[in-house]
Amino acid sequence: MNVHRFGTVSSTNELLREMAEEGAPEWTAVLAEEQTEGRGRRGRVWYSPPGNLYLSVLLKPDISVVELPRMSLIVSLAVHCALRQRDVSLRLKWPNDVLWDGRKLAGILMEGKTKGETVHYVIAGIGINLRDLRGEYPEELIAKATSCEEAGIHWSPEELLVNLERSIDHHRLSYRGAAWKEARDEWCAHALWDRDYIYDDGTRQMRGRPVDLTSDGYLVLQTESGRMPVQTGELVEV
Ligand code: BTN
Repeated sequence: MNVHRFGTVSSTNELLREMAEEGAPEWTAVLAEEQTEGRGRRGRVWYSPPGNLYLSVLLKPDISVVELPRMSLIVSLAVHCALRQRDVSLRLKWPNDVLWDGRKLAGILMEGKTKGETVHYVIAGIGINLRDLRGEYPEELIAKATSCEEAGIHWSPEELLVNLERSIDHHRLSYRGAAWKEARDEWCAHALWDRDYIYDDGTRQMRGRPVDLTSDGYLVLQTESGRMPVQTGELVEV
């Protein structure tokens, strides 16, 4: 991984997008100490003070747009795998959150460039809370967010970066064939399945329980009206 290191940036995803547009090769990465405009999924802000890990990695998978959900699952599996090198019980929550004690320890923002069915590139933006920030979090995050420190595992950003690089490299081509089947099964083995959520894709909301992943990496929800595969959206606590 060719890592470009920065102190303060607006957003590592944004910086890497500019580099991708200028022709940066696959496996280029941006690591920052803090972000002033850290982005979360669905237009949310990602609280990004110094002391946590903010990393974006440029990937150029040979896949079509319909297969993109696989990349999000693969990256979250790679992050989970890197973090669990220290003995700790972490869970995956669809689409790509890493949880400890039911709270978010790491979040991933997948962005990229597509045209029609073609995927030009994917940016995997990874935010991992390393420090215990309970005294500093904005009010709305206190009940939802946690950190490695709170979970009792201690990483410096540099140590974790080494593990992440190894783990993402190990998983990044697992979007096809037997490797994809294995990655999907592994993701399922670490996921949270045992509860109902409100599924929200921005246009509709419905209650459902995640029960499986399809072979394309869509989430299967058990709803009142039967099983329903969903590609995008979020699961909100009931
Ligand atoms: C989410 O769970 O909402 C996704 C959070 C993703 C945050 C990371 S931090 C590094 C990269 N740069 C950003 O602006 N966002 C991602």
